[in-house]
Amino acid sequence: MIKITVPATTANLGPGFDCLGMALQIRNTIIVEETDKELEIICQDVQSKYIQKDKTNLIYKSIKKIFDLSGKQLAGIKLSLMNEIPACRGLGSSAACIAAGCAAGNALSQSNLSTNELIDIGAQIEGHPDNIVPAFLGGFAVSCMENQKVFYHNSEPHSNFIFSVMSPAFTLPTIESRKVLPDLFTRQDAVFNISRASLMTAALISGDVELLRHSCQDKIHQPYRKKLIPDFDLIAEKAKQAGAYATFLSGAGPTIIAILDKSNETFTEYMHQCLSKLENRWTIHTVKSSPLGLKIIK
Ligand code: HSE
Repeated sequence: MIKITVPATTANLGPGFDCLGMALQIRNTIIVEETDKELEIICQDVQSKYIQKDKTNLIYKSIKKIFDLSGKQLAGIKLSLMNEIPACRGLGSSAACIAAGCAAGNALSQSNLSTNELIDIGAQIEGHPDNIVPAFLGGFAVSCMENQKVFYHNSEPHSNFIFSVMSPAFTLPTIESRKVLPDLFTRQDAVFNISRASLMTAALISGDVELLRHSCQDKIHQPYRKKLIPDFDLIAEKAKQAGAYATFLSGAGPTIIAILDKSNETFTEYMHQCLSKLENRWTIHTVKSSPLGLKIIK
């Protein structure tokens, strides 16, 4: 039996489309057991209705991928899932499943793959590395993928920052949210995002709040995706009024995250009041980033 915990992750952080990501203190726990039955998936929490219980399950597919790569035969598997990460809300639930599956597959098949090799495989399954790297390593990661290999730098965001996670009741699959993006961008928009993403990285690590305010802007994905998220602009405006340094769409959405100073004690209640007046039953949880990535407990 293997017990794994893995954090939620937020990707893009505004301008860093497909390359910036950060782990949050929200975690899934997965118990993987080898059994005689081909596949059994147990999940009794509120996420259960979103979880595939057959061989299309991402944890199962990732375990199988590692077994296939090692040339070993996968026997029966039982997965027991305890989810805190809401599915299809832009908080890295897919990356968490893929990372957990790769780590479980590695342990069960005794493949002895390194964490970096697992990150490469996980990013190939997901298609981009921005959630996978912090899911494995925790912290704040900058990454790129070249010829199926991930290159990254991992660090901690400044300890003054906390993160308010605002999620609506509706789901938005990443595949749908990527379909609304254009294939081509103007040079001005490309330069806009390259400069902001670079500064955003510096601002998050250094704690420079002026830089953070100016750098957390995007022209590559948010202007297109916000049409899928009713009240995006209103929530961003209210968050600013309540003292947020920056607000961005988490991953492919629909979750919106505000970056706050850890001393901001009024934000969550103020936004809770604002969100309760909107449609789509928004919830708010203010959390720290997670320095702890995927962990095999036993
Ligand atoms: N970078 C990805 C996106 C994250 O924005 O589509 C979601 O998987």
